[in-house]
Parts: sequence; C-alpha cells; structure tokens
Amino acid sequence: MRFSFAIQTLSSDIPSKSIKKSEMKIYGVYYSQLIFLNYVLEKYKVIRKQFGNIQPSDIDYFKTILSEDRVLTDENDVLPFNIDWIKNCRGQSKLVLKPKSTEEVSRIMRYCNEKRLAVCPQGGNTGLVGGSVPVFDEIVLSFMLMNKIISLDELSGALVCETGCVLENLDSYVRERNLIMPLDLGAKGSCHIGGNVSTNAGGLRLLRYGNLHGSVLGVEAVKADGTVIDCLKTLKKDNTGYHLKHLFIGSEGTLGVVTKVAIHCPALPKAVSLGFFGVENFEIVLRLYASAKSSLGEILSAFEMADNDSISSTVQNLKLPNPISDYPFYVLVETSGSDETHDAEKLTRFLDKEMESGLIIDGTVTSEPAKMQTIWNLRESIAGAGLIDGYVFKYDVSIPLANYYSLVPLLRQKLGSKAIKVYGYGHVGDGNIHINVTVPKYDQEVCSMLEPYIFEEVAKLNGSISAEHGVGFRKPHYIHYSKDVTAIHLMKQLKQLMDPNHILNPYKVLPELT
Ligand code: FAD
Ligand code: MLT
Ligand code: ZN
Repeated sequence: MRFSFAIQTLSSDIPSKSIKKSEMKIYGVYYSQLIFLNYVLEKYKVIRKQFGNIQPSDIDYFKTILSEDRVLTDENDVLPFNIDWIKNCRGQSKLVLKPKSTEEVSRIMRYCNEKRLAVCPQGGNTGLVGGSVPVFDEIVLSFMLMNKIISLDELSGALVCETGCVLENLDSYVRERNLIMPLDLGAKGSCHIGGNVSTNAGGLRLLRYGNLHGSVLGVEAVKADGTVIDCLKTLKKDNTGYHLKHLFIGSEGTLGVVTKVAIHCPALPKAVSLGFFGVENFEIVLRLYASAKSSLGEILSAFEMADNDSISSTVQNLKLPNPISDYPFYVLVETSGSDETHDAEKLTRFLDKEMESGLIIDGTVTSEPAKMQTIWNLRESIAGAGLIDGYVFKYDVSIPLANYYSLVPLLRQKLGSKAIKVYGYGHVGDGNIHINVTVPKYDQEVCSMLEPYIFEEVAKLNGSISAEHGVGFRKPHYIHYSKDVTAIHLMKQLKQLMDPNHILNPYKVLPELT
C-alpha cells in the first residue's frame, strides 16, 4: 500500500500553479480541512525548549549545502511534513531539508548543532506515535532522496542501501534475485528502511525472521554533531566490542540519524499458502495458535488475528471484500517453505485436524498470489479503516498470550457509547495486539478515560506499552510503565553522550530530561 505523500492535484491535467489551496489533497484529505488541525502544542500543552530560531542566514547557508529545490520553505510544500499519518500531530516547521548523501547530512547536523537548531528526522512519515513530525519549528530532515541500493550479495543475502529506500521497492528488488526482505508491514509502499530501523519495526514476518536487532547487519549513522559513525558491516558475526548498531535500531531518531543500512535478506520461499478462518471465541484463537505451531513447525510464517469489529470496519469503511462470513474472530495463518508438496501435506493435516475438532468452522485457503493479496489487504487495511470514523486512538501493546485480548472487552464496557468502535487485532505470534478506539473527533474526555488506564492495565499484566510502533511523542511520559527507573536513567545518559544539546528529535521517546 502506498500513501500519497506530497500535495496532490485533484486532476493531473490542471497545471499546478492554477490550483487553489483548498483543492489540494494531502494523504487523501483536503488541504482546507487539514489547516484546521490543531497544532500539537494546543492539544498537548508542551512548552518549546530553548533552541535557536531559524534565521534567513541559516536558510542561505543550507542553500550552499543543498541545491535550492531541496530547501523547502513554502507553506504548502512544508505542510505534509508537519502532519502525521493518523492526523493526530501537527507541527509548525517552516523548513524541510532533503539531503542526497551522508556528507550533506553530516554538514547539516554539524551546523544545526553549532546553532542549537532542533531537527526532526523523517522517513516515510508512516509512524503511528507522532515521532516523525516536528512538535514546534524543528527542521524536518527528510530522507526521501537518499534512496539508492548500494550492493546485494546474492549468496549471503546482505543488502546495503541508503536510508530512504522504500521497503516495498527493496522487497521487489531482492525478490527478483530470489531473496525476501525480513520484514513486511502495511505501510511498505511508503515507509523507508531507515524509518523501519529507527523504529525497530515489527510487522507481519517477525514470527518467522525475528526483529531488526537480528536482521540488521550494520548501519551508518550521523551523530548530532555531524560525526559519521561507520558500523556498516555486512558480516553475520562480528564480536569486536560493543554492538553499536543497536543504539540506532529503535531509538527513533533521538541518538543519531541513520544514513545507510546493511540488512540480511533470507531466501525467497518457494511455496507460500494462506488460510483465513472464522472462529467462535478468543480461546479458540489461542488453541489454534498452539496447534499451528506444533503441526506446521518451521513452515509457519505468520499467525495474525482480528476481531469482528476490526474486519467489519474495514469492510464497511473501505469497501473491501471479506472472503468468508461474519465471525466473532478471524485468524490468518501463513505458511512459507521450500517444498510445495511437503508444505501442502502439512497444511492439509493441520486443517483436517482442526476442522474435525471443531476449532475451525469456516475459512478459505489459497496459494494463488492474487487471492492471498486480497486477504492480506483486508488485514493490512485495518490500520487505516478507523480513520474514516473520524479519529482513532491507537494502542500498540504486548501482553502475554493468556490475557492478550482481555483489555478490549474492558474498554468497550468503560467507554460505552462514547466510542464508535473498540477493536483488537494483531500479531498473535509475537504477543502484540493493536487496540483501536474510534470516535467522531479527537476528544480529551475519551483520551483521559483511556490514558493512563490502558498503560496501567498493561503493566499489571506484565506487558509492554509499546510493542512495535515506538514511544515517539505520544508515550514518553508513560514509558515508566514498561521501563525501570534505572534503565530510563541510562537512556538519558546515552542521550547526553550522543546529543549533548538535545537537538535530535526533541520531545520524543525520553521523559523530560532533567
Ligand atoms: P517515519 O514515520 O518517518 O519515522 C518514524 C520514526 O523514526 C520517527 O521518530 C523519525 O524521527 C525516525 N526516523 C525516520 N527515519 C530516520 C532516520 N533515517 N534516522 C533516524 N531516525 C529516523 N509498524 C510496525 O512496527 N509494524 C507494523 O505492522 C506496522 N504497520 C503499519 C501499517 C500502516 C498502514 C501504517 C501507516 C503504519 C504501520 N506501522 C507499523 C508503523 C510505521 O510504518 C513504522 O513505524 C515504520 O517503521 C516507520 O517508517 P517511516 O519510514 O515511515 O518512518
Ligand atoms: C498493523 O499491524 O496493522 C500495524 O502495526 C498498524 C496498526 O497498528 O494499525
Ligand atoms: Zn502491527
């Protein structure tokens, strides 16, 4: 799925100069509607820190590093970079810089550090926790032009590329060479590999290939003072001291700017099948997961679940087809292997067993790429379906499987008619549930009913308040529900060491620096 990034014209035959602002669309929403979005500071009452203010001389300087067309200052050009994907956060940046090389990033950072100008690194801007957009007037550093593939070792599977490569483009490139990217997510058509690394993105293949701390072989990154850190190794094994690449994986642009990534691409599976099943209750989802793990073993590559409201929102709001009837819960089981006959036998045995046991009451299984795509599309579109209702409060938590779904009914009861819908879906295979609450528009009262309640409950259940989307702007003051005070202290020390002026992605990830 690709999200439109830049301002679009309504019709391609209208010359862009003649277009009225009100007719422009950003992420499918009219400009005229977006300019009424509240700024972050009005919604969340944050106070701007003592950073420098951008002067005309700064802009002149950036124009000496980058060509003029890569220094955006026009209000219309800058607007899309100020607004996040779920249209919750709107910053007030007046400047977007689009470097094309590590050298340019380094020079920009060195200058910003000297002048105490705050910077917000931005990849595909598909982040869901407000980390990718400025809060005040931070300079947006966009990597959309750093999108070259540098090398691919087809034998080892080591891919080296620039940070702004779009995940889907990388996947297509390596597939042509019988490899696959080790991660996949609904935002693949827009998100960048550098954004994926910076958020330690999880997604649909994590059950099979593990998270990015395992798959990323190396990174090149630029520190806040402009120093280029070269950890761009392509080795599977390298125990020479501290594993510094991990500092940049999942630190959401607060410790450095990722400029290049080396990542391991596994072999492209030769046989893939997908099952989509309807089941009666959540307990059966868990029983099916246990059964799939034992029956399918090494060929199980994804195990996802969605409740009825998740799928019905997607069907109703996005007009996508549901290939089976209405059920309280849906389960999606994918197998990927290297031997079609062997894999099909295993899958058939699993299905026969569970249809006989009554756990699976309806479903469809396919190996046809177009049909698999339709099913995946239904699952991946849940993320955006709720936006049609108005506003979505999104929670991305890990909860041990026994209690995985328990918060959803609790929230439905707590919110009553204040919510349009409350639904849960996610990556059962790694204990990660996404809970979405949709309302006609952002409502502070609903927000106060949800937070910190959800985080308290997750902590009581020994879960994590952020499973895969990160902390961003939305969760720093709740991080203590999942991180011990000693760990938070060490995070602050690392920040101080790597970015002493705190210019990199301020107001994000860390609770107030003391
Ligand atoms: P951005 O949104 O631009 O940025 C995210 C964060 O990384 C920000 O803090 C930003 O400052 C920082 N950053 C970006 N690039 C760099 C860089 N080069 N150097 C330093 N910091 C940087 N996430 C999942 O984990 N699993 C999913 O299944 C999943 N599905 C999604 C489905 C949809 C439809 C959408 C909209 C989002 C989904 N996400 C998912 C969330 C999001 O796509 C991921 O977090 C993704 O990794 C963000 O990549 P991006 O390039 O868009 O980064
Ligand atoms: C997903 O699994 O669909 C994503 O993480 C996005 C979301 O939480 O909506
Ligand atoms: Zn997810």
